Amino acid sequence: MFDVNKVRQDFPMIRNHPDLIYFDNGATTYKPDRVIDAINDFYCHFTSNVERGDYDTAVKADQAYMNTRKIIARLIHCEAKEVAFTANITASLNQIVFGLERMILKEGDTVLLSHAEHASNLLPWFRLKKEKGINIRYLPLDKQGNVESDRLEELFDDSVKVVSLAYQTNVLGSVQPIKKIAEIAHSHHALIVVDAAQAVGHRPIDVKDLDVDFLCFSAHKMCGPDGVGVLYGKYEYLKDMEPIFLGGGMNARFDQDGNIILKNAPERFEAGTPNIEGVIGLGAAAEYLMSLGLNEICEYEKELRKYFIEKMLPLDNLEIYNPDNLSGPVTFNVKGVFAQDAAGYLASKNIAVRSGNHCAKILHELIGTDQTIRASLYFYNTKEEVDRFVEEASKISLETAIGVFL
Ligand code: ALA
Repeated sequence: MFDVNKVRQDFPMIRNHPDLIYFDNGATTYKPDRVIDAINDFYCHFTSNVERGDYDTAVKADQAYMNTRKIIARLIHCEAKEVAFTANITASLNQIVFGLERMILKEGDTVLLSHAEHASNLLPWFRLKKEKGINIRYLPLDKQGNVESDRLEELFDDSVKVVSLAYQTNVLGSVQPIKKIAEIAHSHHALIVVDAAQAVGHRPIDVKDLDVDFLCFSAHKMCGPDGVGVLYGKYEYLKDMEPIFLGGGMNARFDQDGNIILKNAPERFEAGTPNIEGVIGLGAAAEYLMSLGLNEICEYEKELRKYFIEKMLPLDNLEIYNPDNLSGPVTFNVKGVFAQDAAGYLASKNIAVRSGNHCAKILHELIGTDQTIRASLYFYNTKEEVDRFVEEASKISLETAIGVFL
């Protein structure tokens, strides 16, 4: 197991803000020196475009860019040609949804989603419902957002073509039984799409073992830079999927009559100059995480969360929405206090959390509120930070929260 105090020294944000308790890792994570250095190295030593130049720095940029495909292939256990780079997970999911629209979906087909999904795994499907006439059904969830997989079979009929859901949900941290759901989906000839934004970088992911058809994530939630996402797809699907963006870099040739020959996957999904420095930074982030060990990160976070929950449960000013989940954030409200006011109180004590609906705007159907406080952890957080957090959480009341603003 890594030494957390040593690991903390890898992060300039922690070195520069030693007293800030950063529990907003679900929104974005800190970046280690390695990632910043890799990006800086590109800017200072080999800035150039990719897949367009024959000079030395361009070749070096090409190599660094392509190498990240191999690194990500190692991270999630797939082939490099199954990894496409996008702007973020939202772009990846939009590509998958509208790519599948052209490939397989037709009016009357059904897509299975859940009430715990983030906007980016709902809104593109909602557009297909409105414009194409697909049906949407929701997977059964328990009160803490976990899919009740023994009730799944009843949702499937011949119209179900896709199941699309988060591996780990962003508000309640429910880890869904993806392998089992993939097996059930495939037995009904449906595909499975996985939003792994809150899972990758927190646990080992093996797309072959899970047998998922598509999986996507953003770099910035796994110690990497903003503006880069990954779209993994089984090559048998990627190779025939139409890109939603057209332009330079993704076509093999075109003529004046408008005939276009696309490049093969994954390049066909990377129209325009990509975020080269971002992709290089993503590679550095993935290597950093693998050097710590994804199993170790997962175990550390679980233990920290358990400690956190045990300390929070006795506080009778709080309502906690996900006490039994083993991973992910601790999500709660202070009784009688608006979530944003409570978050403001915590901010006044140098504690960063997110409050509100967290872009999961139909989750209230399950938990009865669209305002919560989310304390989301990562492997560089400590029990000492948890202790300080819990002490401050115990002091929040209507009077103390409003007092911040007086
Ligand atoms: N999806 C991110 C979150 O949950 C932004 O905070």
